[in-house]
This record gives sequence, C-alpha cells and structure tokens, in this order.
Amino acid sequence: MNTLNHLAIIMDGNGRWAKLNRLPRTAGHYKGVEVLRSITIYANSLGIKCLTVYAFSTENWKRSEDEVNYIMSLPKIFFASYIKELMENNVRVMIIGDRDRIPAETMKVIDDAIDTTKNNTGLILNFAFNYGGRDEIVQAAKAFAMDYAQGIRNDLNEETFKEYLYTRDLPEVDLLIRTGSEMRVSNFLLYQIAYSEFIVTDTLWPDFSNDELDRCIEEYQKRKRNFGGRDETKNH
Ligand code: FPP
Repeated sequence: MNTLNHLAIIMDGNGRWAKLNRLPRTAGHYKGVEVLRSITIYANSLGIKCLTVYAFSTENWKRSEDEVNYIMSLPKIFFASYIKELMENNVRVMIIGDRDRIPAETMKVIDDAIDTTKNNTGLILNFAFNYGGRDEIVQAAKAFAMDYAQGIRNDLNEETFKEYLYTRDLPEVDLLIRTGSEMRVSNFLLYQIAYSEFIVTDTLWPDFSNDELDRCIEEYQKRKRNFGGRDETKNH
C-alpha cells in the first residue's frame, strides 16, 4: 500500500469547461471553487494530510485584467461560503507563493482563514497562490546564501535545502494529479515532485468528482514506487 500523505492538484480546464457550456470563463472558475470544496472535504475524510492546489501561478498575471481580478476575488467567495464547513471538518488553511503582488484585500481574506483555522489538526488545504516553482527555488537559494554569509549555515544538501522552500513543514508530495489532459508540470512544485507519481486526467476540473479522485487513488495504489532504485519485479 502506497502512503498518501500529500496530494497535489493542478486544477486545469475551467476555461474549456466554460466554453463547452457557453458560459464566461469566470463561470468555470466559480464551478471550480465548488469542486474544490467537495474534494477538500472528501480528501480529509480519506485521511489525506495535505492537499496542495494550484490556484494561481506567477504566469497567470498574463491573463486579462478581468479574469485576474475575478480569480483574486475567489478566496473571498470560497471562505465566505465554506469557512464554517472547513472548521467543522477540522481543516487547516495554508498558502504558498509570493504574497507581495497579491492585492491587500485578497491577502487579508486568506490570512483571516489561515488564522481562524490555525489550530485545526485535520487536512491542510494549501493554496499555491501567486506561486511559481522556479521562483520558489531562487528565493530559497537567496535565503540560504544570506544564512551562509552570516555564518548561520554551511551545510547545503538536498535535505537542508528543503528547509528554505515554502513547503518546509509539509510532507513529501506523493501524488500529483493534473486535470484537463495537458501533459505539463507548468512550474508547479518543481523541487517537491522529484519522486511523486503523476496522473493526468481528461476530465476538466469543474467536472472532477470524488469518484474520480477514488479512481486516481486506485491507479496510484497500483504504482510501484521505487524512488529511483531498481524495480526487482522487472526483468532487466
Ligand atoms: C486553470 O484553468 C485554473 C485556474 C488558473 C484557476 C484555478 C482556481 C480555482 C479552481 C479556484 C481556486 C480557489 C480559490 C479559493 C483561490 P484554465 O482557466 O487555465 O482552464 P483552460 O486551460 O481550460 O483555459
């Protein structure tokens, strides 16, 4: 049985879903928020410890101003509707990414949710928001260099470097799911997914369901994880 402590999801396909349903792109994101609520509660019930979702990338600023503004309003919509349910389910909210460019109003809503849920001990719902994997690695390298210059550290290796990443307090990413069929990593958790299993589904995120998560987990359980070692069951 493969452990599944940390599930990461690239929630792709909101725009295509909206187009297919002759709706504005924002309606796809809105539906995406409802699906995120359902998957969060379900993942918590399965005993998964951490769910990291790619909600806004450092590249997403290139989208139209209207769409960016709408995505920046999603935390308000999400927490206004669901904070009570998150509390009832013992879910803790966290965020990873560069906070500096996020509008103050959006950041306040997120920080309030982080504060309200800080003592919860169930699933960690971790939003990658204004997140970029390369940016994270560069920031970590800078922070290490500062500590090195001040004589605080001189032991750089794969393990100690992890302490400089946003995910320092989170378990290893076991499984990465990408909805919406694209076979790309899109600058998500680059350091953390070195040995994660990867599943890409054709389902667009607004159509993703608890049943489909079950099917992904079933597929994950069939994978033989060897973390770069030799698979003894293969004849070569
Ligand atoms: C990608 O679909 C999706 C996003 C860039 C936004 C995802 C955000 C959510 C699902 C909600 C997050 C919730 C909170 C509370 C912040 P796309 O628009 O790239 O889809 P496409 O590839 O079909 O165009």
